[in-house]
Amino acid sequence: MTHILGIETSCDETAASVVIDGKVIASNVVASQIDLHAAYGGVFPEVASRAHVEAIGPVVEQAMVDSGIGYDSLDAIAVTRGPGLVGSLLVGMNYAKGLALATGKPLLGINHLEGHVYSLWLSDMRSEPRFPILLLIISGGHTELLLMKGHGKYERLGGTLDDAAGEAFDKVGRLLGLPYPGGPHIERAAQNGNAAVFSFPRAKRDDSYDFSFSGLKTAVMREVTVQPSAEVRRKRKRGAEKKAQLRADVSVNDVAASFQVAVVEQIVSKTARAAKQYGVNEIFMAGGVSANQLLRAEMRKATQIPVRYPPLNLCTDNAAMIAAAAHYRYEAGLRDELDLDVKPMWPLTSDAYDK
Ligand code: KG4
Ligand code: ZN
Repeated sequence: MTHILGIETSCDETAASVVIDGKVIASNVVASQIDLHAAYGGVFPEVASRAHVEAIGPVVEQAMVDSGIGYDSLDAIAVTRGPGLVGSLLVGMNYAKGLALATGKPLLGINHLEGHVYSLWLSDMRSEPRFPILLLIISGGHTELLLMKGHGKYERLGGTLDDAAGEAFDKVGRLLGLPYPGGPHIERAAQNGNAAVFSFPRAKRDDSYDFSFSGLKTAVMREVTVQPSAEVRRKRKRGAEKKAQLRADVSVNDVAASFQVAVVEQIVSKTARAAKQYGVNEIFMAGGVSANQLLRAEMRKATQIPVRYPPLNLCTDNAAMIAAAAHYRYEAGLRDELDLDVKPMWPLTSDAYDK
């Protein structure tokens, strides 16, 4: 049996959690900075690192107290090594190193994307997942389609060529005057909107498993904002009047619903096709956007293959998923040195598991 403390500070959540055997959550503390960043309409890196510095100590202490497990009983300390904001990653990494040094417990650096994958193992799994599994990681920073052939064995099939799916939700949310992060607010607005009002572009019909969301975002912008006069365009070149203005005759709810459907259709069509081509046994969706109810429903409709996703609180960033991913590395005998570096850019490949 393993008891692993996980620490996550890659973006705008300071999180710590103790997980038993990669499956059972003994504690799960998440201090969100959403309120801090809302004013900027996105994550402000400098503000994020400072907030992590302030929160990390109390968050880790709380996770230990909640778990009822002492530092002596831990088997390892796991921390997100990347990808993410460098200043934010460093806060978690340095704290984890300090703890590893003080307690004599081994350190494990974890890929954040692999963490999202293992949020699935923390979910109520009535049956053990059967490989190969098609993974769809869709968050504010990532849109990745991967084939998972075993623990730590990944093959990348495709990903976004421009904005991440969550990023598109956030940008369109901002355009519509909705609070940050846009995803959940767009979903809520869409419930009272008509998705047939606007016909936004869908996926290109090609054979790739790559995604693109920036064209969609631009189409939304063109459709719903007041087209600037020549004078305003001139001013904009000089950096003034940046903010696009929503047309008075468009309904935010209708735009939200029409946009959401276009994003969901693109994601579902590519994922369902990949699942069929690679003959997978399951489809796993993880990351913040996998919280989207329309996406979940449409994915289930599009394929006979079982579709799983984490419970809502494990879709977005947390440290339980980091501890869960670490369990399999720990069991495989992997350990990291105390001079481990952070990796702000770190694709999820099988190498990520090997080191
Ligand atoms: O996984 P996550 O917490 O952070 C990253 O690793 O990026 O994902 C956050 C992203 C945000 O872009 C947010 O707008 C999106 O997930 N999101 C959603 C929903 N809930 C969160 N997008 C669509 N529908 C939702 N219900
Ligand atoms: Zn994430």
